[in-house]
Amino acid sequence: MAKENPTDLKSEQDVSKYFIPPDLKKAKKRGKEDVKVIRDFDIPEDMQKIGKGKYYLVRTYGCQMNAHDSETMAGIFEAMGYQETEEENQADVILFNTCAIRENAEDKVFGELGRLKHLKLEKPDLILGVAGCMSQEEKVVNKILKSYQHVDLIFGTHNIHRLPDLLRDALFNKELVVEVWSKEGDIIEQMPKVRENGLKAWVNIMYGCDKFCTYCIVPYTRGKERSRRPEDVIAEVRELARQGYKEITLLGQNVNAYGKDLEIDYGFGHLLDDLRKIDVPRIRFMTSHPRDFDDYLIEVLAKRGNLVEHIHLPFQSGNTEVLKKMARKYSREQYLELVNKIKKAIPDVVLTTDIIVGFPGETEEQFQDTLSLVEEVGFDSAYTFIYSPRAGTPAAIMEDSIPEEVKKDRLQRLNDLQNRISRERNEALKDQIVEVLVEGESKNDPEVLSGRTRTNKLVNFKGDKSLIGQMIDVRITEPQTWTLKGEIVAMPLKEEILDVANG
Ligand code: 5AD
Ligand code: SF4
Repeated sequence: MAKENPTDLKSEQDVSKYFIPPDLKKAKKRGKEDVKVIRDFDIPEDMQKIGKGKYYLVRTYGCQMNAHDSETMAGIFEAMGYQETEEENQADVILFNTCAIRENAEDKVFGELGRLKHLKLEKPDLILGVAGCMSQEEKVVNKILKSYQHVDLIFGTHNIHRLPDLLRDALFNKELVVEVWSKEGDIIEQMPKVRENGLKAWVNIMYGCDKFCTYCIVPYTRGKERSRRPEDVIAEVRELARQGYKEITLLGQNVNAYGKDLEIDYGFGHLLDDLRKIDVPRIRFMTSHPRDFDDYLIEVLAKRGNLVEHIHLPFQSGNTEVLKKMARKYSREQYLELVNKIKKAIPDVVLTTDIIVGFPGETEEQFQDTLSLVEEVGFDSAYTFIYSPRAGTPAAIMEDSIPEEVKKDRLQRLNDLQNRISRERNEALKDQIVEVLVEGESKNDPEVLSGRTRTNKLVNFKGDKSLIGQMIDVRITEPQTWTLKGEIVAMPLKEEILDVANG
């Protein structure tokens, strides 16, 4: 149904009722009592066929948590009869699942929303929605109300299960529909999901974050730490294994805190110890916080099997003073000690990390500590960022006198160093044989296949399309900085072929 003049109504809305401004003291007092596990998710009857003959498009920004939320949104759309499209012109609903972690992530979304204004004018029935972390910010919602009045629907990270009801309101009401629960979040089980492919699957093990690093907006946009029940996680992984998935990535903002909010004595190490018994070739996880990485977890990871020898372990800064200002709750020495423990237990472990440069007040000497830590640990790769102030976080009001050029120069020097180390680490793989999960054809050359090692390195090699989805052995012939080139040495069916020959 077309909207007559939606803009007047929108600008009158008071959105302040949806938001409680970030309050560190209050947020830190988060209790565990009021997390509800909701198991009766259903699509309302009147919405079950609403999308018949219609198309949806979900565009995702940010981390894997967001990408997996988009799979849930897609699942809900398909349960309402919608089909997926990549074409904006064909879509009846376009949803932006947004990221708030840095300003440039937000700028991109505003750019896209602006660009789509003409499409909305041409096609007034189009529903344009904003979901994800940006929706949790009052200033974003106000900006949309003021300057992007062609948006029909805004909902937050705690409201995904409400999509059918919100969509109904957006389709049949004239007002902008805003639903952003600033509460700390429940756990909604059994939502439908459309997974990206049949090989690799993401599984949430927990939601939210209670760490409150002073630069980070996630504890405010994603609510408090809350773990899914172990039996729910195990059942989901079992089912994915049964369906033939080859690789599971367990997701949480801080997976090492898994279980701390449950009333049972069961942590991330226990969960991994249970999951490793499931017949699925690979299990990995994202993201770890060094503070909660305990000895039992290392002991379980050292059992290997389907637990891969790759750990993403963000350190953010190599200087203890800066770490203190970031409220990371560990020192440089403690981080290095943890790394040494992990390397001792798993000598061929691949470590990757996240690093922030230009945190307020960071001196050249403090930055040098970050460089020296990178050198000392020898990460295989790193995501590196210039600090971006986020309104409402404690660091946003810290004095920041570092000029922009200095921050950019630090990032460049850090990237140069990391690239050199990445190259060296990859060079060490030359002539080695690695197990590769074949994921698909290379984009540039259909004769070339690509896949990933247990340590998540991308390998390109010549091979037949029929190998897609299989585990094969590949010899690394040409290591490069970010990828590896190789050649197949063993096909997956060799035992069966031998059996046939012998029989
Ligand atoms: N500015 C820059 N980088 C940030 N990160 C989180 N918040 C900020 C910020 N305000 C980085 C951290 C984190 C990764 C996901 O993003 O390195 O680990
Ligand atoms: Fe993911 Fe954090 Fe970005 Fe939200 S703000 S999408 S949780 S990285």
